[in-house]
Amino acid sequence: MNWDKELSVAREASHEAGRILNSRLGQTNQVIKKGVIDLVTEADLQSEKTIIDIIGRHFPHDRIIAEEGGEYGHLQERVWLIDPLDGTTNFTHNFPFFAVSIALEVEKELVVGTVFNPSTDEYFEAVKGRGSYLNDHPISISQTERLGDALLATGFPYDIHENPDMVLERFKRMIVRAQGIRRPGSAAIDLCYVAAGRFDGFWEEGLKPWDTAAGILIVEEAGGRVSTYEGESCSPFSKNIVASNSLIHSEMTLLLGP
Ligand code: IPD
Ligand code: CA
Ligand code: CA
Repeated sequence: MNWDKELSVAREASHEAGRILNSRLGQTNQVIKKGVIDLVTEADLQSEKTIIDIIGRHFPHDRIIAEEGGEYGHLQERVWLIDPLDGTTNFTHNFPFFAVSIALEVEKELVVGTVFNPSTDEYFEAVKGRGSYLNDHPISISQTERLGDALLATGFPYDIHENPDMVLERFKRMIVRAQGIRRPGSAAIDLCYVAAGRFDGFWEEGLKPWDTAAGILIVEEAGGRVSTYEGESCSPFSKNIVASNSLIHSEMTLLLGP
């Protein structure tokens, strides 16, 4: 399989959805609260519907797991993992760092991943075994060798108000060792920035499969390493994730482990 059709459908869906997000940015969006700080807007829902319509039209039997709408299709071997708007909090504050994330897993292996930030017009994609690209140019991870020289990214789970202790403890361990840490607000883009060498590493816990699926493949295809905090192999369904240029990986897992 060369996955060309799947890639072009994911590309079309992410750009179509991106147009919707751009057109709604800055408007007074009605915000529904799924949790105290976990939001959903009309834009999330419209974007998701557009993506599902496009994928469903080309691959009607494939299973689709999308953040806002639950599940469609029945083919267990082929599963699309979709976040129609990763970075909803940013979006509602007109902070232009959010993305459409689409991935396809076939027999539990990630084969296609796309992440599109419509406000910067940056489109990241990867196909298993074929490298990672940003706007059609190949990308690769950084060469930073030491955590002390590394720029890292992280994010905080939505239950941070109730359970801050371990998340802050891990943040503290990292902030006193790294050169710098950012909390941009879209895990999908954070992973792509590791792939493009803009960040040297990223970690977060409590993410969902649609947040990380495309980004994991994009990091790996750019030459990076992805694991759990414990150093085990990581899937979109893992409970935590560390992604890096691989050179600083063991320094990161040493600090993030129990
Ligand atoms: C969130 C973003 C954020 C991360 C959160 C995610 P959403 O996704 O990826 O960076 O810290 O944990 O849930 O809710 O904006 O799709
Ligand atoms: Ca998300
Ligand atoms: Ca989302």
